[in-house]
Amino acid sequence: MPFGPYRGGGLALAAVAWLAACGGGADRGSSATGPIVPPVDTDTFPLRALAQQAGIRIGSAGDRGFRWTGSDGSSFRSILSREFSVLTPENDMKFDHLHPAPTTYYFAGADSLVAFAQQNQMVVRGHTLVWHQQLPRWITSGGFGADEAWQQLSDHIATVVSHFKGKVFAWDVVNEAFNDDGSLRSGYWFDHIGRSYIELAFRAARAADPNVALFYNDYNIEGIGPKSDSVYAMVKDFLVRGVPINGVGFQAHFTLNGLPSTLGANIARFAALGLKVHITELDVRVPVPSSNARLASQAQNYHDVVAACIQNKGCELVTTWGFTDKDSWVPSTFPGQGDALPWDSFFQRKPAYRSIYNALAGR
Ligand code: XIL
Repeated sequence: MPFGPYRGGGLALAAVAWLAACGGGADRGSSATGPIVPPVDTDTFPLRALAQQAGIRIGSAGDRGFRWTGSDGSSFRSILSREFSVLTPENDMKFDHLHPAPTTYYFAGADSLVAFAQQNQMVVRGHTLVWHQQLPRWITSGGFGADEAWQQLSDHIATVVSHFKGKVFAWDVVNEAFNDDGSLRSGYWFDHIGRSYIELAFRAARAADPNVALFYNDYNIEGIGPKSDSVYAMVKDFLVRGVPINGVGFQAHFTLNGLPSTLGANIARFAALGLKVHITELDVRVPVPSSNARLASQAQNYHDVVAACIQNKGCELVTTWGFTDKDSWVPSTFPGQGDALPWDSFFQRKPAYRSIYNALAGR
């Protein structure tokens, strides 16, 4: 599994050496040596190096930034590669991007992101094989029946997972299959195939790559409640029946001060099943225009999520859904909300960046 030993660049290695000298070890959760306190400037070390010391990884999604030119493009790429060791293509691996016509696959966009990750010693989270959104019209308007949908799902997964074999360490195999009340959501795959589409997808992904980690990913499952209870029951049943699954992704698209108090307990109950938990799409949206007070609360929210991941051994990583407010899905999706990420639109670090830093440093 490529989710292996961390290989940092020069700066990261310097940070690791310094932290090791200060007694900071990879034995997360240990307070024997006390919190790591960098000497002067809290931004001396890349987040990814501090994350390694804390026993997790820190990542970001990326999309439009990869196409920016000039100083925007270079700022985007240098911050992404310096600070993060996990890259999630925000859109480039979705069905409509990869599979625009029945027998046409387009891999160039996603491949270029994978190449960027490899050049910068980042691992890639694949997102996402099966979802009710971002499906091409040839699928949704094709008038297909159950058998055809089953074949489409199998073929898509086999082709895509095989293409990225050895390049993607984890896949969000199925995304957002449940409603908030815990029932299964209607959508192309459910409506055509029925509930078995979920386990079919996991089996097809495992058949195509015996080593990649397979995740179920959803939102509003970060705390204990009807929706996460349904996901819990499903994955428990999968484990009993031998349906291949390795983890659950909590998207973590939060409103300001909207973190569930049961986040840690919820991570722990999935981990107790032997599953990994990934925080896959973290952002904390605030009403705009934001204020210093709101950004300070946002910073605390980021701190609490990162700390919850570090404190719960099943949690392997935290990925933010982008890192700069210059490119976030929030303003166009939630009118009146924005400023959801740790860097502002001018690539300046916000209080949220500093609080992530502090959480990773054990403060
Ligand atoms: C969003 C992207 O950020 C947008 O650019 C795109 O237009 C729509 O999808 N849950 C998910 C992600 O699993 O794939 C979504 O990403 C955000 C919500």
